[in-house]
Amino acid sequence: MASLVSTLHEKITSRRARTGVVGLGYVGLPLAVEFAKSGFRTTGIDLDPRKIDAIRRGQSYIPDVQTSDVTALTTAGMLDATTDFSVVRELDTLNICVPTPLRKTKDPDMSYIVSAVESIAKHLRPGTLVSLESTTYPGTTDEVVQPLLEATGLKAGKDFFLAFSPERVDPGNPTFQTHNVPKVVGGLTPDCAMLAGALYGTAIETIVPVSSTRVAEMVKLLENTFRAVNIGLVNELALMCDRMNIDVWEVVDAAKTKPFGFMAFYPGPGLGGHCIPIDPFYLSWKAKQSGFDPRFIELAGHINAGMPHYVVDKVGEALNTRKKAINGSKILVAGIAYKRDIDDMRESPALDVMGLLHEKGALVSYTDPHVPHVDAKEWTGNKAIESVNAGPGSFGRYDCVVIVTDHRSFDYKALVAEADLVVDTRNAIKERAPHVFRLGAPQPATQGVNVSV
Ligand SMILES: NC(=O)c1ccc[n+]([C@@H]2O[C@H](COP(=O)([O-])OP(=O)(O)OC[C@H]3O[C@@H](n4cnc5c(N)ncnc54)[C@H](O)[C@@H]3O)[C@@H](O)[C@H]2O)c1
Repeated sequence: MASLVSTLHEKITSRRARTGVVGLGYVGLPLAVEFAKSGFRTTGIDLDPRKIDAIRRGQSYIPDVQTSDVTALTTAGMLDATTDFSVVRELDTLNICVPTPLRKTKDPDMSYIVSAVESIAKHLRPGTLVSLESTTYPGTTDEVVQPLLEATGLKAGKDFFLAFSPERVDPGNPTFQTHNVPKVVGGLTPDCAMLAGALYGTAIETIVPVSSTRVAEMVKLLENTFRAVNIGLVNELALMCDRMNIDVWEVVDAAKTKPFGFMAFYPGPGLGGHCIPIDPFYLSWKAKQSGFDPRFIELAGHINAGMPHYVVDKVGEALNTRKKAINGSKILVAGIAYKRDIDDMRESPALDVMGLLHEKGALVSYTDPHVPHVDAKEWTGNKAIESVNAGPGSFGRYDCVVIVTDHRSFDYKALVAEADLVVDTRNAIKERAPHVFRLGAPQPATQGVNVSV
């Protein structure tokens, strides 16, 4: 009789396996589409009925996923979606892509993983492969997921297969998407690793096997902690440069001409998104449980979290040159998504900048073509606000315009020409002008000459 391992392997390589993706957000929907494109009948499971309805109508709600792909795949019967976990019984593989936020205390919030795994466990049948993709601390797969699934009486590595494979999607990146970003895969046992590698290998160009789920979990946290710490370093350098009348942007651009041993990171108004501000704290929480005090992570977190306050100080400094206060000034925040040209504003530092300005009495507006609306609960202003339609002819209405996210669609020429004062936290304005204040750079009155070769 064929073993569960060889049966599932054959089903995967022949594309007869039914694949399932749990959590259809920025990570899960692109992955479900890749599996469906590579020939698997794929079912997405999510608790949000609006996402399920959209997929069933052939509609994408994630900018990196084309609606034409979703339409073609649903019409061909290759992609379906449901809120009903009982479909798990019909599926051979399950990839879990649910959120892993932090609690207010900066401890990991595992409730989404636990809830998704408990729902899967109710319908788990022998021979299924479960792969966790949510970013989390080392030990989650074997300490949290495995016991919940084994509570069914089935044994991991024998009756069902368990792996961890971190997602590395970079929303808005036109070059690297799910199918061409190498995929790190760690299995609970060699069979688990082999089956997970086989599954991902059908849809993703390069598979990077590692020896355990814990190594795979740690790889993702190293990658994101590396970014958080280096951004913390360059943010500290920006604060230093401001004090020393040196332009940090010019320093980084010159340093990056070194062809080895240097990688450019840029300062900014603070960290945003679902990964970099959060994931390092998953690692530090777990390290502390093991009696280890992770100092780099905490220090970088401290510096990065202070950046919105520095931006507000910069606004105060700019207004001061007009003998104005933040209190009562009309301030436009340009760009509130956490990074350029995307619609995701989770953890965006713009929300902190807006909240701090509001607390100091500013009349805060924002403009962002990708984020039309901010709910009252999303910022400390406690009132819902809509993006204003700012463009040529309207920048002059404000006492100060603060560029927090440098979307490509902004008309920077008009912004500089019309705004009375500009605070640029992204070095979006290349020309030096007496009313443009840049993060990590000397006061406009004292800045150096434009240099060109
Ligand atoms: N967004 C990124 O750029 C990115 C990159 C790499 C890794 N990650 C990681 O991937 C994971 C998912 O992130 P995301 O950005 O896709 O999140 P998301 O919020 O966009 O999507 C998560 C989805 O899971 C659904 N969900 C929540 N609980 C559920 C449950 N119990 N059962 C079924 N569905 C449930 C939500 O409704 C939502 O649609 C996180 O751990 C994140 O850290 C995200």
